[in-house]
Amino acid sequence: MAIPESFLEELNARTDIVDLVSSYVSLQKKAGRYWGCCPFHSEKTPSFSVRPDKQMYYCFGCHKGGGVISFVMEQENVGFADAVAILAQRAGLPMPEVNEDAGQRKRRAHLLELNKEAARYFYGNLREPDAEPARQYLAQRGLSKRTVTQFGIGYSFPQGDRLMNAMIDKGYSKRDLLDVGLCVANNKGRIYDRFRGRVMFPIIDLRGNVIGFGGRVLDDSIPKYLNSPDSPIYNKSRNLFAMNIVKKSKAGKIILTEGYMDTISLHQGGFDYAVASLGTSLTEEHARLLAKYTKEVILSYDGDTAGIAAAQRAIGILSKVGVSVKVLKITGAKDPDEFIKKYGHNAFQRLLDGSENQIDYRLAQIQQKYDLTNDEQKVAYLQDAAQMLARLSSPVEREVYGGKAASAAGIDRKIMTDEIDRQRKNTGWKQRKQAERAMLNPAANAQPEDRRFRYQNPRSARAEEGVIRLVLLENSLFEQATELSPEQFSSPLLAKIYSVLLRRWEENLSLDLNSLSAELSGDEMSHLSKLMQEVDSPANGEAALRDYVLVILRECARSKFDKNSSDEELLQLIQQKQQRQK
Ligand code: CTP
Ligand code: MN
Repeated sequence: MAIPESFLEELNARTDIVDLVSSYVSLQKKAGRYWGCCPFHSEKTPSFSVRPDKQMYYCFGCHKGGGVISFVMEQENVGFADAVAILAQRAGLPMPEVNEDAGQRKRRAHLLELNKEAARYFYGNLREPDAEPARQYLAQRGLSKRTVTQFGIGYSFPQGDRLMNAMIDKGYSKRDLLDVGLCVANNKGRIYDRFRGRVMFPIIDLRGNVIGFGGRVLDDSIPKYLNSPDSPIYNKSRNLFAMNIVKKSKAGKIILTEGYMDTISLHQGGFDYAVASLGTSLTEEHARLLAKYTKEVILSYDGDTAGIAAAQRAIGILSKVGVSVKVLKITGAKDPDEFIKKYGHNAFQRLLDGSENQIDYRLAQIQQKYDLTNDEQKVAYLQDAAQMLARLSSPVEREVYGGKAASAAGIDRKIMTDEIDRQRKNTGWKQRKQAERAMLNPAANAQPEDRRFRYQNPRSARAEEGVIRLVLLENSLFEQATELSPEQFSSPLLAKIYSVLLRRWEENLSLDLNSLSAELSGDEMSHLSKLMQEVDSPANGEAALRDYVLVILRECARSKFDKNSSDEELLQLIQQKQQRQK
């Protein structure tokens, strides 16, 4: 990591985690901790805890956790270096210069500047005499002057070197233009403008940076759209078009569309809360970004089969991050853009008012699969629908939707509710069985949330967790643990954490949660935060640590020996070890 340790320590010391988190989440003090509703998943009762003593946070609901740096990384959706920069600014500390990261930051800033210049240039082009075709096209698509200005829509001339020359005049290099994808090189090495003869839509991030462009042809030629490629400043799976505008909307919900024009038309039509995922299907990162700003997403995809499939996929992804999803059924037009232009604001509003929620939508999907005039198919429908409805936890919802599903198929309401109950009993029984099994096997309870980190040897892993917890709580205890080597750990994740700690200890660097966020991934940090929640008092830390170390050594020896080897042999080995310790 190129940011100096000393700087990170200073930053850590100057940042109060309660203060920091409070600027995003309202916190209440209870029993030495602060509690609030988790900013990373949607909830009504607080399970997000902040511990000022350890400068860390942990959510008991979604199991995210870490220190001040990971908090900013999660919350602002930025990388390590950017999170440090944000915290530095907050603490009034100037960022240390002359290192690689400063170099990269400078490069990014330079490329963003270039994109901004290019956006200005494309926008300015619209007023040039030879931009008549573009002006005509925008008028024909019904875009007002105001909309063109609001979205910074522009035009790229067809020639192939006009943007390049304009930017070179401003002092940018061909390398810069290639790096952001404004220019491309052909196989003879000739460099020319990527976007030629296209209407240009700048893609703007939450901070107002122009991170990329989409360009549409003025006619029916192919490809209809060209987009900026992913670059050091643009990642299409992480950004949504018009999010910079929507974040200021007071609507409290967000309409998600598939295209530039859909989103732009909705804004022009008075819906200032539409965004689009661009030339890519919805990703989990998109979903998290949406969840940060709203609890309700309305899917407004095209009405064709591809659109329906995409909507179904999106429902799954969005449900995972805890936002409720409604689906608009566009009829009489192929997409939202066409719909609002054809039928107007009020018609779209009615569509929104009547928008189906997820359950209705799923029911309709199920219904579509069956021919309900056929008795056999009716039974299959009944079972299929009941299976979905049986999973609803609210009895009222089961009742209401059960009734709806029944009447849609002309089935007696009572038969439907009976079937739902029957299926519920089945699944209830299955769940109880599972819970029972888990209870009989406490080792399984101790497993990490994240499947990738599953413990092969839970007994050893618990002790490994203990060692890590204790040395983080009381650094001086490390003295006693250094005889442990990472290879003796059973869990690769815990071994990794331990080896980072060990190295830092040997190099005399600070040992706290924050100092680790540069070397561990977000998931790894979350797991570490989770294991830090367990109580381990540093008061009898020495004794506890000794026990933990012994367990680890024993388990390690056991795994090395033949599984059948007697406990005596093991005992001997351990006693030898203890002797040496004394
Ligand atoms: N798209 C793309 N490349 C293409 C076609 C589409 O990147 N060759 C992306 C664009 O972001 C586009 C979205 O997919 O906005 C939806 O495509 P489509 O429905 O075909 O375009 P519309 O948004 O409806 O555009 P228009 O109304 O201008 O035809
Ligand atoms: Mn369209």
